[in-house]
Amino acid sequence: MLQGARLHEMKVFEWLLTYHPYTSLLSCQMSVPWILPLSCNSDLCGCCFSHIVLFTADTLCSPSCPQPIILILLDIPPMLPVLDGVVMELQDCALPLLREVIPTDKVEVGFKDLDAAILVGSMPRKEGMERKDLLKANVAIFKTQGAALDKYAKKTVKVLVVGNPANTNCLIASKSAPSIPKENFSCLTRLDHNRACSQVAMRCSVSADNVKNVIIWGNHSSTQYPDVHHAKVNLHGSEVAAYEAVKDDNWLRGDFISTVQQRGAAVIKARKLSSAMSAAKAICDHMRDIWFGTKEGEFLSMGVYAAGNSYGIPDDLIYSFPVQIKNKTWKIVDGLPINDFSRAKMDATASELVEERDTALDFLSQ
Ligand code: LMR
Repeated sequence: MLQGARLHEMKVFEWLLTYHPYTSLLSCQMSVPWILPLSCNSDLCGCCFSHIVLFTADTLCSPSCPQPIILILLDIPPMLPVLDGVVMELQDCALPLLREVIPTDKVEVGFKDLDAAILVGSMPRKEGMERKDLLKANVAIFKTQGAALDKYAKKTVKVLVVGNPANTNCLIASKSAPSIPKENFSCLTRLDHNRACSQVAMRCSVSADNVKNVIIWGNHSSTQYPDVHHAKVNLHGSEVAAYEAVKDDNWLRGDFISTVQQRGAAVIKARKLSSAMSAAKAICDHMRDIWFGTKEGEFLSMGVYAAGNSYGIPDDLIYSFPVQIKNKTWKIVDGLPINDFSRAKMDATASELVEERDTALDFLSQ
């Protein structure tokens, strides 16, 4: 399809700010990547970083994703030696579409002329920390990042926020970048979406690619609502509604939902580390779909600006909806019938987001 075509390079950026126990940078709104536990040592940090960066680069540079990229990695000064190692590994991967890797600790280099920004770093909740404290720290981080995007990135930049609380961080980044359209900002709920597909697929003894059109509504938190009322499962060549394929309404309305809602916590409990591989895969899925669009008749979950949605979700939120994407532009899939069970869950997660937003906006205005 693309033979002979001159492909333009796309600049991709990953914000990797690292917690470093020997610096005071944390108090300067530097952050801990959400893929790392606070107690990790720097070897572990390097390993997690490499993991997420290499996976992202590998997928974004694969032949199925024919977009050459220049990858810019931003971190705090003490982590530059680690970044050098990541750069060497990226070079050693001999990725066909990776044109250049630029490690930097300078915001003006990191954000310059970006086509895509993946904001991975954020302040995770520490023991004894109130949700308010967490929001306050992250408002400071995402205000800075939004302002840097506003100043240095292309106005067409697509920004994916991964660091938690991802929805509200994304809203703050967008509000801090007034010259960039709100539609260019999204947050990651693809990980939850993939988890939901996989749970249904395992239940039906099929592979995950046989499940489509699940929806994650709302917040990337334990109030999110994984909804399969509109999902389809391909069972041995025929497409059937998920409820029909699973044949266990109690499970779909009970354990299925709580498993997906609690999956991040379960991974942390088991690994003593936040999800890394599955998150990296979800980041790649999300970015690839923004760049190349969704398949005909299929929709995906993405945290996007809620303005003008048909589901009665308050406007000024980043809320996860079913979306279809064409020409790098998402559109909420409107008009899906919503029953009372779903309504209550969609509203509950919206309420949590309203509360987060109001607290965050208080801090933003200070
Ligand atoms: C996940 O869903 O795996 C992460 O968002 C969990 C976390 O808090 O790091």
